Amino acid sequence: RPDISDRKRDHIELCADQDVEARIKTNLLDAVELFHDSLPELDVDAIDLSASFAGKRLKAPLLITGMTGGAPEAERINKELAMVAQELGLAFGVGSQRAMARNPDLTATYQVRDVAPDICLLGNIGAVQAAEMSTAQTEDLVGAIGADALCVHLNPGQELIQPEGDRDFRGCIDAIARLVEELSVPVIAKETGCGLSPRTLDRLAKIGVKHVDTSGAGGTTWIGVEAMRAPAAQQTLGELYWDWGVPTAASIVYAKRREMNVIGSGGLRTGYDAARAIALGADIAGMALPWLRACYNEGAPGARAFGERCLTALRTAMALTGSSNVDELRQAPKMIGPRLERWLAADPRR
Ligand code: FNR
Repeated sequence: RPDISDRKRDHIELCADQDVEARIKTNLLDAVELFHDSLPELDVDAIDLSASFAGKRLKAPLLITGMTGGAPEAERINKELAMVAQELGLAFGVGSQRAMARNPDLTATYQVRDVAPDICLLGNIGAVQAAEMSTAQTEDLVGAIGADALCVHLNPGQELIQPEGDRDFRGCIDAIARLVEELSVPVIAKETGCGLSPRTLDRLAKIGVKHVDTSGAGGTTWIGVEAMRAPAAQQTLGELYWDWGVPTAASIVYAKRREMNVIGSGGLRTGYDAARAIALGADIAGMALPWLRACYNEGAPGARAFGERCLTALRTAMALTGSSNVDELRQAPKMIGPRLERWLAADPRR
């Protein structure tokens, strides 16, 4: 079994410069067209981008989605991205805290409160690991970094392609139910690039989960990333399922139909994508890969520039749809294309 820190390094390096995104499938945000408003009747500079999530105010409805921790390179990335989140008033998540659960010496690679005292900070652990840990152990992961909520990630697709991955997924639903009941902070059920389906969302709703991160198909594919690391047989399997999953746009609507607080994510690359995710009902919009690339290649200044471009593009979408705040953007008139319509019609709860 490769060391966790080595695996983290592999993941960062592959994501930084290889083709790790969906090939044919899109996240279907391209099937969402916002109606242009020629008479917006607002002052663009007075548009209110603020939002809230997990009990915290954000200056803008954006999340830097959890990616890493547990290696020296990961520590730099977490600190720099958290610093930018603090400056721009965005939410930020760390990657899976499994490495620090195993080896407490790695805790510092996830700690960002020194540079980001005010941000909405999300912790992260895999559902399979959560099932193996007590609530007290999980609570320690939250406390050690001062997180405002805990993402419990669901990633069976990735695990089945990862050479050293998990294959027994029993007990995850009970573990999530227990954490929802017992943890001191909200639990966010999070996919990792395959999206949350109607059935998964119904199961999560039934055990009291109120927050989800769609992490839909159409962006970074973890089946793909693991295929690149895998020996031949699993590589072929990974190629076969490269684009597997529920497109982000569909997953956002499914989750809103179940009255959840929704992080819309999976393949969002611009502020315009964020605007379309929010117009479908997402509370905030999450992105991972573009932040990693900006930070990996150009450090905090690159990440800050990317964030500012996103904010400008989001503000522009709000101006051109006549939305003076994020709630109004959520109600913005839109046209839904036929492919997305069909995904939406396939939900038994439509
Ligand atoms: C991730 N992602 C992820 N998710 C998670 O819950 N725990 C984790 O440890 C990681 N690790 C990780 C590393 C790197 C380098 C990337 C790029 C991503 C998944 C991430 O949070 C997100 O759900 C997906 O990447 C989809 O969003 P994008 O990348 O298409 O914007």
